Amino acid sequence: MREIAHLPSDMAIISSKQPAADAQQPPKEKKKRTPKQSAIPIQLASVDSEILQAEIATTEEKIQEESLRPSSIREYIGQKDLKGVLDIAIQAAKVRQESLDHLLLYGPPGLGKTTMALILASEMGVNCKITAAPALERTRDIYGILMRLEPGDILFIDEIHRLPRVTEEILYPAMEDFRLDITQGQNATAKIRSIALPRFTLVGATTKIGSLTAPLRDRFGLVQKLRFYEVDELTLIVQRTAEILKTAVTPEGAVEIARRSRGTPRIANRLLKRVRDYAQVKGYAHIDGSIASAAMEIYNVDPLGLDWVDRLLLTTMAEQFNGGPVGLDALAASTGEDRHTIEEVYEPYLLQIGYLQRTPRGRVVTAAARKHLGLKGGDDRTEQLSLLE
Ligand SMILES: Nc1ncnc2c1ncn2[C@@H]1O[C@H](COP(=O)(O)OP(=O)(O)OP(=O)(O)O)[C@@H](O)[C@H]1O
Ligand SMILES: [Mg+2]
Repeated sequence: MREIAHLPSDMAIISSKQPAADAQQPPKEKKKRTPKQSAIPIQLASVDSEILQAEIATTEEKIQEESLRPSSIREYIGQKDLKGVLDIAIQAAKVRQESLDHLLLYGPPGLGKTTMALILASEMGVNCKITAAPALERTRDIYGILMRLEPGDILFIDEIHRLPRVTEEILYPAMEDFRLDITQGQNATAKIRSIALPRFTLVGATTKIGSLTAPLRDRFGLVQKLRFYEVDELTLIVQRTAEILKTAVTPEGAVEIARRSRGTPRIANRLLKRVRDYAQVKGYAHIDGSIASAAMEIYNVDPLGLDWVDRLLLTTMAEQFNGGPVGLDALAASTGEDRHTIEEVYEPYLLQIGYLQRTPRGRVVTAAARKHLGLKGGDDRTEQLSLLE
């Protein structure tokens, strides 16, 4: 059960049925990225970097995504640990006829945080009210939302690391004691009026767990990380999406797409749609391995889903820094990329596939990365360094 909240238009809640479920801000069309100058000769702009970005790209994609979301835990592919923990929490809460503990979901974009929040609500048979931290700027935004909660409701706050301080402080007693403290008046004459709230479950989602304050993090009973997906899990996701889109894909075709999806369901779904366009234009009735590969070549998607920035980072490390170790600031200065973007957008996947390692002295490029990029050198510095540590 999900509900459309009847609120004044300046309120922050939006219905989970509406397409713009993930955020309340006006949709940002992403700017086309232009490769930045690099000192090393490397073929840039050979990959359409948009297609491999895990963040949601357009309003249209956001709308389409709603139709692809699995709606039960059974349909939710992968994330075994997360599903195991939540399954037990759901069953226990149902037996005790209580609301679920507050839950914090964190992990890179496009891995299924919002999807899981919606599934929890439907498994618990409760309403899910959705908002995003940037929409909670004024205290009255959060007051309004909390006062309209019904027993058992799930309140989903996306990008929770971006909550303004005042809003966060209102949430503390609400989460802990189901109590809303409303401050009336100002300074010396200010009075606090307390209102009892029904028991509800706050589900917070963030891509940056490190940016959350400790008091907020500590108020979540469950803190769960979403992991990158394995190729076999992404293959199942591609097959499931293909079925919804009524597109015929052979198992080999699905694997080809899964391998290039950077461990991310959102990218897998996006690549499938591009390959489907290609097959349609070329007049193929179904997508097999070689059609999927040919399409990916047209879109300049690397066999492992690396884009030009990944390649630039790895090549810079290998060629300018002799494989590392190199500090984040030096890497940022040499590539012209923002250090936070390197750390939050690129590194997680490169670490996941073992192309990059973090050591106490800095980042190190691995032999596997050199091999993939056809770079010479290749004495595996990571091994040497681990002996030194
Ligand atoms: N486990 C899964 N099984 C099947 N499809 C999935 C799964 N996880 C995510 N998806 C698909 O990927 C898309 C993106 O998922 P979702 O919006 O939940 O990601 P998110 O973690 O909330 O991302 P963001 O950090 O950008 O908000 C969804 O449309 C959904 O179809
Ligand atoms: Mg989300």
